[in-house]
Amino acid sequence: MPANGEVGELTEAQAKAELKRLSNVLNQANTDYHRDDAPTISDAEYDALKARNLEIEARFPHLIRGDTPSSRVGSEPSSTFQKIEHSVPMLSLGNAFSQEDVVDFESSIKKYLGLNSERVTYTAEPKIDGLSLSLRYEAGKLVYAATRGDGKTGENVTANAMTLDDVPESLTGAPEVLEVRGEVYMAHADFEQLNQKQADAGAKTFANPRNAAAGSLRQLDPSITAARPLKFFAYAWGSVSEPLSDTQIGAIERLSSLGFATNPLTAVCNSTDEILEHYSRIEEQRATLGYDIDGVVYKVNDLGLQRRLGFRSTTPRWAVAHKFAAELAWTRLEAIDIQVGRTGALSPVARLLPVTVGGVVV
Ligand code: IVH
Repeated sequence: MPANGEVGELTEAQAKAELKRLSNVLNQANTDYHRDDAPTISDAEYDALKARNLEIEARFPHLIRGDTPSSRVGSEPSSTFQKIEHSVPMLSLGNAFSQEDVVDFESSIKKYLGLNSERVTYTAEPKIDGLSLSLRYEAGKLVYAATRGDGKTGENVTANAMTLDDVPESLTGAPEVLEVRGEVYMAHADFEQLNQKQADAGAKTFANPRNAAAGSLRQLDPSITAARPLKFFAYAWGSVSEPLSDTQIGAIERLSSLGFATNPLTAVCNSTDEILEHYSRIEEQRATLGYDIDGVVYKVNDLGLQRRLGFRSTTPRWAVAHKFAAELAWTRLEAIDIQVGRTGALSPVARLLPVTVGGVVV
């Protein structure tokens, strides 16, 4: 059966049909998640389907579809908002799911740069589970705020972003042009409170903090956003008229000194071992951080090397997101139904109490 079959065993016709199915499922999942703030599959399921799509494409490169989800970032901006063209695209990150993938990431960087024993340093920081936002400042004044959209064109959410305490409207000592990029998110306690308030008012509640953050930022009426407790961590930049620093960590420190909140768990690591140690440290603190993270992002620290490494179609070569293992959940077995098949065969079917896993009810 092609839908679940081993990629190595697919015939060409099966691979073609499977790429079509995956393209439909993944493109729909992108729209549900990014444009409609209403995810229909878990992040782990999405990652697994995307990895399967990539694996089939690697085996059958001539079957790669024009609408392949591999070269897509997010989803098209909603027509509810004015559009803003990003001067520098807002890309996605490649994923690592195991220590082995992290070792491969480091060796592919060294290979690309032609390095042998020389040391490359990295930053390691939490991957915040929110939605990305780009803030453009000219002469120290916020001129617009845009969501990622499809990576090339985002939604103009300036009036809404201005209501966030973590988004300064003016900066002192900033480059003439500065685009600050980062993640808008909602803390757990604020999310619980908001959902309680929504339930009391008979209004719609949100499935998870990420949806609440996205739904709150993407409002037509900025006074609704203003009443929602949104936060912002800065971790990257787009156009800058002069460099912020010559290292990733230096640039993050510069953003912090300009008044942006940056993540306190950002560290510089000198080896894969140090990277993996920091990953474990962050994973241990995950449950008590007070906001959702879904992995740890590693970035080459030297910005000159980042420039040399450059980008693939939708992801930088100089960074990777090391994802946490899929969330597990317990639920109650309510009953066992006996289904009668067409041939009269009886099969037991478990009836489970719905449970939220990774922000999706299953
Ligand atoms: S760096 C060129 N750092 O993850 C890519 N992204 O899966 C620059 N994200 O689109 C992104 N935390 O929305 C970066 N510490 C972090 C992040 C982070 C969350 C999001 C971001 C990005 C997505 C990619």
